[in-house]
Amino acid sequence: MRIIIYTGKGGTGKTVNSCSTAVKLADNNQKTLIISSDPAHTLSDAFMVEYIGNEPTKVIDSLYALQVDPIVEISKHFKSILSYIASTFFSKGVDETLSYEIAMLPGMTQLFSLLKIEESVRYANYDSIVLDMPASGEALRYLYFPKLAGSIGRKLTEFTGVFSGFAKMFQPFSGLTGNSTPSNVLHDEIKLMTRLESLSKLIIDPKITTLRLIANPDTFSIENAKRSLMSANLYGINVDLVIINKIMPKGSNDKYFANWAEFQNNKVEEAKYNFYPLPIKEAGLYEKELRGIEMLRENARLVFGVDDPSKIFYSGNVFEFIKDDSMLRMKLKVPFTDKDNFELERYGEHLTIKVKGPVGFMINVIPLPMVTIGMKIAQSKLVDDELNVFFEPGY
Ligand SMILES: Nc1ncnc2c1ncn2[C@@H]1O[C@H](COP(=O)(O)OP(=O)(O)OP(=O)(O)O)[C@@H](O)[C@H]1O
Ligand SMILES: [Mg+2]
Repeated sequence: MRIIIYTGKGGTGKTVNSCSTAVKLADNNQKTLIISSDPAHTLSDAFMVEYIGNEPTKVIDSLYALQVDPIVEISKHFKSILSYIASTFFSKGVDETLSYEIAMLPGMTQLFSLLKIEESVRYANYDSIVLDMPASGEALRYLYFPKLAGSIGRKLTEFTGVFSGFAKMFQPFSGLTGNSTPSNVLHDEIKLMTRLESLSKLIIDPKITTLRLIANPDTFSIENAKRSLMSANLYGINVDLVIINKIMPKGSNDKYFANWAEFQNNKVEEAKYNFYPLPIKEAGLYEKELRGIEMLRENARLVFGVDDPSKIFYSGNVFEFIKDDSMLRMKLKVPFTDKDNFELERYGEHLTIKVKGPVGFMINVIPLPMVTIGMKIAQSKLVDDELNVFFEPGY
């Protein structure tokens, strides 16, 4: 069983590459489900089919698609909890409508699309599940939520007595709870936490789940993808592939297009260095909008070639953080050795690695995680292709 998640900046091509991947998997006779939680009905637009609903809808042989409907999912799993939380706000004098707004945590809808994965694994036997994540760097955070909430959930269930006592305290004030008695709120809460925990196990299992980054050949989407790579590594999610999409063809006689093609070509070369050692697949910008089964199939052929899209293209962390006494060691793989001349510099929350290559200096700007705030670089050491940067407290 494989779970493949695509993420990247808005409009880079997450949906079409998710769909292409799913079509190729289905063509290889793998029973595949593609899930999207985009509020707009992008899956039906991409496949050019009339309707894709909240339950798996057959697209072609072996391929099913599902467009998460947040309202349906919330009422299925979260309604009693939501109205219970809202009722506690209401009891404190917050207006009823506003109570619901506050109780609904940001990003909840994305969390429910992740839970759809867990549901599909539990109730159906797909060979592969492809998830098209919505456009937001923030969205990725909810991939990690299960890990957190799952373990908190277990603690909560150990303290059920305390919790239901707490719940009872609010009940007399509540005019909103309806069927949400403390015991069924608690029951739903435990159910949700248990599901989050099993979802979390699936997502951090590198033999099952891999995250793939989609970027375009421009500075902004590449930076965004680098940040996603760093946070995924921090949370122990395996990133196995980068796809650079919408690359303009070279060889135009028109200076305007030739300039763009050259710029983009340089960005692709830079990306190979920036994402090292992750493999990079390149996809051209087609002469028309990429959509429809045939075009998606052709795109998959160009992106994956003879590779099986469910292959795990890379295993392991690109970045690792290790606590050594009072120091914090960042370990990363780099495409150079100690024979090369390299420089390290820190600018705020970024680390810049500059190295002289065959075609001038290559620069990699690495987003540093929050833990390095209040720390400075003490030393660096290159062992084979592994760069170790030591941070110590101080400015
Ligand atoms: N290589 C390509 N050549 C031509 N058109 C493309 C290519 N890749 C994507 N497109 C088109 O670009 C648009 C955006 O693609 P897509 O919807 O897959 O991006 P997305 O990252 O999912 O966007 P969002 O962030 O809004 O979810 C679509 O119209 C799609 O058909
Ligand atoms: Mg999309």
